[in-house]
Amino acid sequence: MKNKLINFDIKGDARGSLIALEKEHNVPFDIKRVYYIFDTKDGVRRGYHAHNNLQQLAICVKGSCKFLLDDGISQEIYTLDKPTIGLYLEGLIWREMFDFSPDCVLMILADAYYDETDYIRDYQSFLEQVNS
Ligand code: TYD
Repeated sequence: MKNKLINFDIKGDARGSLIALEKEHNVPFDIKRVYYIFDTKDGVRRGYHAHNNLQQLAICVKGSCKFLLDDGISQEIYTLDKPTIGLYLEGLIWREMFDFSPDCVLMILADAYYDETDYIRDYQSFLEQVNS
C-alpha cells in the first residue's frame, strides 16, 4: 500500500506547540476540503468505503482512533493517537475507522470536494474494481 504516516514538525516554544499544514510542504496535495469527526459514540465503526480518486490526510488532533486499511489483498491497522502524525491515503483503499476515544477529533484533509459518486460503499464492488 502507498499509504504512509507523515510526521509533522512541531513549532514549539515555552508556551506550547503548534503545527502548520501547508500544501506541498507537509501535505502532498492541493487541499480543497477539510472535515472532522468528533463526538463519536462508544463502539461505533464507520467509514466502510473506498474512493475512486481521492487523496486524504487523516490527523487525530485530539484523542485516538484506529484505521483499518484494505487494498483488497492485505489489511493494515494504524493507530492515530497524536496530533503530530498524519495518515496519507490514496489509491483504491477500503477504510474503516474504529476504537474512537470519547474525546477523539479526527480531522481529514482532502484534495477534492465532497462527491458521493466518488465513493465505493459496497465491499464486493470494491474487490471487483481492485481485480479489474
Ligand atoms: P459518511 O460518508 O457516512 O462518513 P464516514 O464514511 O466517515 O463514516 O458521511 C456522513 C454524512 O456526512 C453523510 O450524510 C455525508 C456527509 N458528508 C458531507 O456532507 N461532506 C463530507 O465531506 C463528508 C465526508 C461527509
